[in-house]
Amino acid sequence: MREGTATLIRREDYTAPAYWIKTVDLTFDLDPIKTLVINRMQVERNTALPVQPLKLHGEDIMLTRVLVNNESVSFRHEDGMLVIDNLPEGLFQLEIRNTCCPEKNTQLSGLYTSGGGFFTQCEAEGFRRITYFLDRPDVMAVYTVTLRAAKTQYPVLLSNGNLVEQGDMMTGVYGPRHFAKWHDPFPKPSYLFALVAADLVAREQHIRTRSGKDHLLQVYVRRGDLEKTEHAMNSLVASVVWDEARFKLPLDLERFMIVAVGDFNMGAMENKGLNIFNTKFVLANPATATDVDYAGIESVVGHEYFHNWTGNRITCRDWFQLSLKEGLTVFRDQEFSMDMAGTATARAVKRIEDVRQLRQLQFPEDAGAMAHPVRPDSYVEINNFYTATVYEKGAEVVRMMQTLVGNHQSDPLGREGFARGITLYFSRFDGQAVTCDDFAQAIADANPQSELAKQLPQFKRWYAQAGTPRVSARGRYDAPSRTYTLGIEQTALPSPGQPAKQAYVIPLAMGLIGRDGQALPLQLEGEAQPVGTERVLVLNEARSFFTFVNVDVEPVPSLLRGFSAPVVLADHLADADLLTLLQHDTDPFNRWEAGQRLALNRLLAAVKDEAPLQLDDAFIGAMRTLLHHPELDAAFKELALTPPSEAYVAEQLSAVDPQRIHQAREAMLLQLAQALRDDWVWAFESHQVKGGYSPDPVSSGRRALANLALTMLCRDAIARGDVVWPGRAYERFKDAGNMTDRLGALTALTHSHAELAELALQRFHMLFKDEALVIDKWFALQATTPEKDGQVFARAKQLLKHRDFSLKNPNRARSLIAALCMNNPAAFHRNDAAGYVFWADRIIELDSINPQLAARLARVMDRWSQLAEPYRSGAGEALKRVAAKPDLSSDVAEIVTRALQQEST
Ligand code: PHE
Ligand code: ZN
Repeated sequence: MREGTATLIRREDYTAPAYWIKTVDLTFDLDPIKTLVINRMQVERNTALPVQPLKLHGEDIMLTRVLVNNESVSFRHEDGMLVIDNLPEGLFQLEIRNTCCPEKNTQLSGLYTSGGGFFTQCEAEGFRRITYFLDRPDVMAVYTVTLRAAKTQYPVLLSNGNLVEQGDMMTGVYGPRHFAKWHDPFPKPSYLFALVAADLVAREQHIRTRSGKDHLLQVYVRRGDLEKTEHAMNSLVASVVWDEARFKLPLDLERFMIVAVGDFNMGAMENKGLNIFNTKFVLANPATATDVDYAGIESVVGHEYFHNWTGNRITCRDWFQLSLKEGLTVFRDQEFSMDMAGTATARAVKRIEDVRQLRQLQFPEDAGAMAHPVRPDSYVEINNFYTATVYEKGAEVVRMMQTLVGNHQSDPLGREGFARGITLYFSRFDGQAVTCDDFAQAIADANPQSELAKQLPQFKRWYAQAGTPRVSARGRYDAPSRTYTLGIEQTALPSPGQPAKQAYVIPLAMGLIGRDGQALPLQLEGEAQPVGTERVLVLNEARSFFTFVNVDVEPVPSLLRGFSAPVVLADHLADADLLTLLQHDTDPFNRWEAGQRLALNRLLAAVKDEAPLQLDDAFIGAMRTLLHHPELDAAFKELALTPPSEAYVAEQLSAVDPQRIHQAREAMLLQLAQALRDDWVWAFESHQVKGGYSPDPVSSGRRALANLALTMLCRDAIARGDVVWPGRAYERFKDAGNMTDRLGALTALTHSHAELAELALQRFHMLFKDEALVIDKWFALQATTPEKDGQVFARAKQLLKHRDFSLKNPNRARSLIAALCMNNPAAFHRNDAAGYVFWADRIIELDSINPQLAARLARVMDRWSQLAEPYRSGAGEALKRVAAKPDLSSDVAEIVTRALQQEST
């Protein structure tokens, strides 16, 4: 599919561009079949390098003309590039004319059509699918863009920056035409270019920022969706306010636009001044969006907005530095959501959700075929490296930097030191394309006394080494000397291309807890007095020892508080210790973690021993106490009472039998449902939310807990043959005042395999048949129902033929295929390998339509070599079948080739 791109690109091969492009003047004659692009550039040779030809990227476009200083020149095509020799010295004008076909662009990279409008997606290498260019992030130019299109079909014409002119043109064969001219004063890399031409309407808001400047914020959507834009706009306003308050980073544009599009490969895109969003992260009203959707919108709107500084004002020198913008911006959006949440527990809930995500997606990635460092060393297809490692682990690396610039007295969390670092980063690099090293150096230099500054070269191993480090801790209490010694080891397992690893710098936030639940004062050997009850130990060797003095009783250690580093911790705590932490830990994260560990121990025992799971009274009693706890938030309780996912359990095992894990977890859920029956009734009834819908953390937490309770009650009822609770769930489903409760009730029915589930699903489809995002939920819910006798898999296959299903729309494709293959292990991993056949068929189909999306779904097989038989063999065969497809895209080829390389390991 992509000629000439199936080569390995290496970080160490980076060289500066041979030419600079200073300005770009683009004119588009927009037509779905044949769009004409006129591209006039001011180009200059990079005099730091030897004289050489200009080589421009281009892909799937038709060249019609090349002019240098208005005269035609000779050119050639070589390795998929347009090569021009013999160029003048100094600044010259290069004009390229070409055409492209937006309607046939099913890859959704470059210029494409969706819902009758034109949209672009240029990150990472989509601009070359629009015109010939030096399509690399270190070439930054000032853009002027003129759009011409039919006026009735495309009344709205947008591009980056400010509108400088607009008006009518002569009527064309298809009716009146018009134009708009935009100018973006900020030099930018081509991946931040965007245009939109469509029939849209906008919610608008004027704001005045601290400096007294006025700005126009707009959220563009299709007609009819305007009433679903309030939350996105509120989130945008909150983002502007937050970035100015926390990091002194103001909005630098007169106009900031968000546009929603129904066909989009990713979540959203931070194009300068013109963010383009998947509708999923813009559109919400209480009737169609859940609390989770509302939270997702807030965080993605924040994320893209924050990119305006971290990504756009300072961008990446090359794509190996992707985490420079993504890790940092994820960190920023996580902090934003936490600050918006307010209370300490609401912050902790957000942190727990983020860590759960990291463990579920990034840890397996780091242990599988696609393992790569936060700053990768090589890639075939850069689109395959928009990963949980670059994003989420990258954010953890930034978070550790913040922790390591903290100091116990004045800035325990490191917030001030980190904000200082950000300020220095911008004073050094604003307007430039830089590296992860530049970033880390700025944070360290702004905090010269910090642990980060002292250990920077070693700290940066986090950027260079793949794999999740293991930290193993053992405590020893010595009663006569009243000392407590923690011995802590770190090890890192080999990963592809990295057999041996060096020790990391690991910030380990910790406390000690007495048997009565009291937090103990912490005084290390050699210190004159205790320093608080929580501190950050810094590990930097394979093995470290920390001795605490004046410890009166044997404590329970609470380690890795707040998940202070992305590691797997083995703390060797017994159940009794975990129960103490669950009851008393002042760190809400570790409190949650203790509960998860108790559940995990039981699940693992059942899976390993092949014995049916039988929950003990201690565990059930602890869960009951937690559920009724007078001080804990409902949102926290919901997280704590949800056992670890099947995927997380699988990660703890070397030979994974997904069916056995499923059975154990299902048994745990049923026993929790039965043993706590009265408590679930209480939880359901006492967490109803009265009044109008609001997605705030308190109300959404109450809804989450009530919905969990309802699912538990239905599970218990179905097992007993009782019809009351399913009946109540059905009533609630029918009468729900918002989507969270409606979907919650529907989930209770489907997950418990209640008979009424069928009726409810039909009704749900009828009610929402015109709401694409809700129909996605309808597909996903059916595909993620806990498997029972193969029914769920059979239904998913059936749904492929449903008239609403389409592989062309990424959200819809994901709602069925990713939901089944990635989020429903027991339905997917079957004895008869039918799930793998299903997977291979879909990847092969999708590869010809949208290779980026196909490659994402192909990632399901990352961990295939860790499966037990017969799963492993079935998965291997499916992989080989995909690998053998003629004209397989380089995107999917990279994924399946790497997966198959695991065979020998
Ligand atoms: N840069 C986008 C983000 O993180 C993600 C993205 C990558 C979108 C590539 C489209 C294509 O917000
Ligand atoms: Zn991003």
